[in-house]
Amino acid sequence: MSRCRCQAEARPAAVAAPDPGADLTVVVVAAGSGERFGHPGGKALVEVAGRPLVAWSLLAADAAPSVAALVLVCRPADLAAMEALVAGLPLALPVAVVPGGDDRQASCAAGLDVVSSEVPLVAFHDGARPLVRPHTFEAVAARLRADASLGGAVAGCPCTDTVKVVRDGTVSATPDRGNLWVVQTPQAFPIEVIRAAHRRARSVGTDDASLVEAMGLPVAVVDAQRNNLKLTYPEDLVVVEATLLAAEREGE
Ligand code: CTP
Ligand code: MG
Repeated sequence: MSRCRCQAEARPAAVAAPDPGADLTVVVVAAGSGERFGHPGGKALVEVAGRPLVAWSLLAADAAPSVAALVLVCRPADLAAMEALVAGLPLALPVAVVPGGDDRQASCAAGLDVVSSEVPLVAFHDGARPLVRPHTFEAVAARLRADASLGGAVAGCPCTDTVKVVRDGTVSATPDRGNLWVVQTPQAFPIEVIRAAHRRARSVGTDDASLVEAMGLPVAVVDAQRNNLKLTYPEDLVVVEATLLAAEREGE
């Protein structure tokens, strides 16, 4: 696998040392094909509220005091464009830009390959969730620090819709909503736990936590940010852009 390390020294902003207590690497995965969004070449570089979509997640993670380093996983065809993007953003932390894989899990594994084992925690975050705030990275990291028995801590919120299990177009069950949560990213793990989970993975999961759950380890859910939406369909753009522009107006 080829690895491209962005040249921090080429950036306009001064590169500051991470906080002395920073113990979290954030891997932003942005190597998807954006099929449901309907944009040829993926959605990560689509302009959203004045910036490429993935830039919002990088800026939010960079501003979280617990974060020591960033990894950006992108489509191989986007490597040069992503390096240029990162070089032009006012980021304080070092960023490694690496090519992703054919599915999200392979992209996470590619990012994990370049994470330093000296940083004890790692969080994966979807580049398609631009509304994430720095406090959400803090919240999942804090949950892990508070309980050493946890295999992971993931952002999410209690389900507000009723969910049906549907087979062949017909409802086969209505699970008790009181037990249902919608999970998002970031999803954070002790570095050795998530490395072991990837080594042992026998199937492709839709999130990182499911690999850790398969090892029998407890994963906590953290109700940190209800509006942490994922840009999936074109119609999501209106809400996402309005929220980003409102946050900028309010100086958040
Ligand atoms: N992702 C990735 N590598 C892949 C597939 C997905 O890094 N091979 C990332 C996406 O870039 C996105 C996140 O995983 O930030 C969540 O995926 P999703 O919203 O499904 O994005 P896409 O896979 O790009 O969209 P689609 O499924 O509609 O093609
Ligand atoms: Mg996808």
